[in-house]
Amino acid sequence: MARKKIALVGSGNIGGTLAHLIGLKELGDVVLFDIAEGIPQGKGLDIAESTPVEGVNARYSGANDYSAIAGADVVIVTAGVPRKPGMSRDDLVAINLKVMASVGQGIKDNCPNAFVICITNPLDVMVWALQHYSGLPANKIVGMAGVLDSARFRYFLSEEFNVSVEDVTAFVLGGHGDTMVPLVRYSTVAGIPLPDLVKMGWTTQEKLDQIVQRTRDGGAEIVNLLKTGSAYYAPAASGVAMAEAYLKDQKRVMPVATLVKAGTFGQPDDVFVGVPVVIGENGVERVVEIELSADEQAAFNKSADAVRGLVTVAKGLMG
Ligand code: APR
Repeated sequence: MARKKIALVGSGNIGGTLAHLIGLKELGDVVLFDIAEGIPQGKGLDIAESTPVEGVNARYSGANDYSAIAGADVVIVTAGVPRKPGMSRDDLVAINLKVMASVGQGIKDNCPNAFVICITNPLDVMVWALQHYSGLPANKIVGMAGVLDSARFRYFLSEEFNVSVEDVTAFVLGGHGDTMVPLVRYSTVAGIPLPDLVKMGWTTQEKLDQIVQRTRDGGAEIVNLLKTGSAYYAPAASGVAMAEAYLKDQKRVMPVATLVKAGTFGQPDDVFVGVPVVIGENGVERVVEIELSADEQAAFNKSADAVRGLVTVAKGLMG
């Protein structure tokens, strides 16, 4: 069987880390793409030169022309610019919307059957834009946010309880950003829900609230420490897990930004936002509609409305 082809559109910090992890996991051959000349070629060659040491069978190439992504099975998009001081979220939408227009066209022309994972921020509106420009069916395009947000939540909880990260499950719904909705009662240690762990004296409600807030601020915490960029190891690991679920038909249940249809999750109209789905060989195979309490529903609605606000801004810019 021929190796799978994985195209990385954007070869910056996340793109380079994605390329490295994909090789180490032998998920397929990697094409790095970027508008910056030399960067995708240089990173591709550098990682390729590590493969004899690692004993990894994967080929790497770098390109500045979209024809290089032809026939890709998976495309992971990190192209764009990060938010800089003084730049509003709307400014960022305007800039990265243009990037999604060219990336979407590149995918449409070269690999319309690919499974596409978008990581570029502001996440949920960029997934909407990429679907609009690429014309891909909604089951073949997702945004990476929930896997990262729940990984952060799981990590903080594992520290608090002094248990393995493997035994902590966490659920995060909604848009990526300040309005995300960590679902405490669906998050567990080996199946024991967090509210029960509070009753058992493993933690206090106050500490749990602090961990929830730290999860919401997880991206900003890293930016404040790095000062010159944003997180890339955990975002890349999260993107790779989603790609692997598709390529290996794992049927994994993961929170991703996907098309939530009107009438589901209490939504009045269609919106791209984070909810749990099953990922397998057909991309998003099922959206898992869970029951929400009144508070959770209100928080989810607020989050979905924040995404709608940015989509309205994007539509205005498209004219
Ligand atoms: N087409 C292709 N690549 C582009 C384009 C474009 N139109 N515009 C910018 N790029 C490239 C840049 O040249 C850069 O190499 O996208 C890359 C982005 O890399 P970084 O700036 O290192 O950003 P990174 O940390 O990888 O994050 C990428 O993911 O989490 C989000 O907020 C983050 O939106 C950002 C994205």
